[in-house]
Amino acid sequence: MKRKFKIFRYDPEKDRKPYYKEYEIEIEDGWTVLDALNYIHWYVDGTLAYRRACRSEICGSCAMRINGKNRLACKTQIKTLGKGTIKIEPLPGLPIIKDMVVDMDPFFRNLEKVKPYFIKYSPLPEEEQLQTPEERDLINEAAMCILCGACTTSCPSFWANPDYLGPAALLKAYRFIFDSRDEGGKERLEIINDRNGLWRCHAIFNCTEACPKDINITYYIKKLQNLAVNNQF
Ligand code: F3S
Ligand code: FES
Repeated sequence: MKRKFKIFRYDPEKDRKPYYKEYEIEIEDGWTVLDALNYIHWYVDGTLAYRRACRSEICGSCAMRINGKNRLACKTQIKTLGKGTIKIEPLPGLPIIKDMVVDMDPFFRNLEKVKPYFIKYSPLPEEEQLQTPEERDLINEAAMCILCGACTTSCPSFWANPDYLGPAALLKAYRFIFDSRDEGGKERLEIINDRNGLWRCHAIFNCTEACPKDINITYYIKKLQNLAVNNQF
């Protein structure tokens, strides 16, 4: 079956402004958008730039805007996108390096601010530090985040203010603050309890809708806001 793709193209070193280029290719049953991009890149137009690695919804590198929604190209089956032309664009809100390749530095700088690693002040235990199933349940969903950036780059608060930590960084803060083994909750909460942190979230829910791992990010941000208001640390 033939399908048309309308793909965002922009090379800041060569092009005065972005444009869209159309490609029509024969696709096979079961192809994802990443399969189509690979075909175009390998057999039609080798200048097309996009990121990919695992092809298994794990590395998070193939996040892009597909038919107006942030998604993983390797997870998106072409047959789920209706019959018309499929529009492919880079994630919004980040500088474009080339075509669908965006500069993720602002995203990772915000992530670094919340100290996305275990903090331990008491002596390290001699043995593996176990959690109860209930303790693990608290962070299980948040720990599934693959840092693809689909959530933060779909958030209008982030588009308006790139200093906003964004839902991915806040979710990472939640993942450690609510981890029974971590001892850095108080300092992390102080970092995110800020007008460019928790309080820049206006419950728009785009992040939750965009998450390819179906994480209810808004719910966890609200839990952090409650924690900050009740000053439980
Ligand atoms: Fe943005 Fe998600 Fe909050 S879209 S405003 S971080 S609920
Ligand atoms: Fe790794 Fe899509 S290629 S998540």
